[in-house]
Amino acid sequence: MIFESHAHYEDKAFDEDRESLLDGMRDHQVGTVINVCSTVESLQKTIDLTKRYDFIYGAVGIHPSETAELTEEIFEKIRKLCALDKVVAVGEIGLDYYWKEPDPEYQKMWFERQLLLAQEVGLPVIIHSREAAKDTLDMMKALHAEKSGGVIHCYSYSKEMAAEFLKLDYYFGIGGVITYKNAKKLKEAVEYLPMDRILLETDSPYLTPVPNRGQRNSSWNLPYVAEEIGQIKGISAQDVIEITEKNAQKLFGIMTKNERIA
Ligand code: NI
Repeated sequence: MIFESHAHYEDKAFDEDRESLLDGMRDHQVGTVINVCSTVESLQKTIDLTKRYDFIYGAVGIHPSETAELTEEIFEKIRKLCALDKVVAVGEIGLDYYWKEPDPEYQKMWFERQLLLAQEVGLPVIIHSREAAKDTLDMMKALHAEKSGGVIHCYSYSKEMAAEFLKLDYYFGIGGVITYKNAKKLKEAVEYLPMDRILLETDSPYLTPVPNRGQRNSSWNLPYVAEEIGQIKGISAQDVIEITEKNAQKLFGIMTKNERIA
């Protein structure tokens, strides 16, 4: 089954049909979904989704572009949420210099604090890094990000940078962008990466793969991503689905149903 490692189903883009979309996941071969927080408002909404759907797990944290909303009180709330059974990661956290709001120094402060929180509570991180490769890597090295482990979500840098993140034993989230014609650099990085470091993700409602590009995204589109990765790696889409599911189960500590029964 497909393991969707990064979606935002609390987003208002799903208000109209969230229930029917989520109810249809299994019919579309999607077995597990990580709903990833970005804003303060998304924290409780994500927890609510994990309570309502057995196949949805949560990542709690604040996106770099939303850190202006962060306060000590909210940071404490995130710490408490980390103790919940179905919270499996801290994220998404990181640096976004495409939108230089808030100031990069402020983004760095909250990236550091949330990264260290993950180490403290023993959860992996989901990292958002956009046009901030060097600072992200420098901070991860300085703060020993290998202690928590995690994934660079929506990986968008070169294969040379991928080699650096690999040294920290990180995973790489690959989504719809891999199907775009102009994604040459990303295709090179995926060609280079070992299969046991790749996770499938959508970042729904964003980054819809070809042939549905332009429409709202959902995990139902992940077979197109698996197909493209399979072509690059010379394996079947089904192999990509199975390998990336195992990778994600390992990273997020989610056992399969059979293992749970045993
Ligand atoms: Ni996201």
